[in-house]
Amino acid sequence: MNSGPADPATAAALARLYDLDLADDPGDVDLYRALADRVRGRVLELAVGTGRVAIPLAAAGHRVTGVDNDRHMLDRARARAAAEIGGSGGSLELVEADLFGLTLPEGAAFDFAFLALNSLMALGTRTAQQAAIQALADHLVPAGIAAVDVWLPDADDLARYDGTRILEWARPDPSSGAIVTKTGSAQYDAATGTIALTTIFEEGPQGAAALRWVRSDRLRLVSADELTGFAEAAGLRVETLAGGYDLEAHGPGSERAVLVAIRT
Ligand SMILES: C[S@@+](CC[C@H](N)C(=O)[O-])C[C@H]1O[C@@H](n2cnc3c(N)ncnc32)[C@H](O)[C@@H]1O
Repeated sequence: MNSGPADPATAAALARLYDLDLADDPGDVDLYRALADRVRGRVLELAVGTGRVAIPLAAAGHRVTGVDNDRHMLDRARARAAAEIGGSGGSLELVEADLFGLTLPEGAAFDFAFLALNSLMALGTRTAQQAAIQALADHLVPAGIAAVDVWLPDADDLARYDGTRILEWARPDPSSGAIVTKTGSAQYDAATGTIALTTIFEEGPQGAAALRWVRSDRLRLVSADELTGFAEAAGLRVETLAGGYDLEAHGPGSERAVLVAIRT
């Protein structure tokens, strides 16, 4: 996550709360499973987080490697993988590393490599985003498949991002039973094409003082056109530019850009 160095207790809490936040299923796992089934080879997820996508792929029998630079996110992935992969024949290897300039010892050994759910945006700068797409391409075998997914906020979304703090949800954390609320504010900066996000999680038993965890992120917006340019500059040939996880054609009004490309 790009909130800067956090103390270990905060980093561990934010990793746990990431999973609670993602209890609202984005609906992308079937797409990645279909692409992994298509190649039937080694799979690489960059910015794997807590394994939300990588673990179901490994549980479906795929041999998956996941890279992330947040040790606490990886700790959660490791614990979940042990419980969920079982005797599927699949595996999940987790690597703590920065995507920027990433070179795994296996090199170009992967048949499918992907960056899911806005991870590219969270890298914050154009240079880091291009480097991440290059890292995907550099780890693919010839004719291997890359996939990247970014959110495309529309003008109405951006106009709302004026720093106002809003309540996003309140829900129980099944691991503790505590009620957690998530509030957040977003501030769009047209000059840099970035959104500064501040997210506040508060949790605790009703009527008692709540614990409060704060994270800050800066998302750099990426257009479908820029995403295509990143892929082509990295030596990838765009196979599909879609507007969502069903791979429907991308076009005006699309809320996402989902790119599937082939290593040339
Ligand atoms: C939006 S989460 C996505 C997690 C997971 N792929 C998913 O779809 O649920 C973004 C992830 O990118 C990781 N990340 C951010 N910057 C990174 C970097 N420079 N190198 C490696 N991982 C990074 C964060 O730690 C976080 O786990």
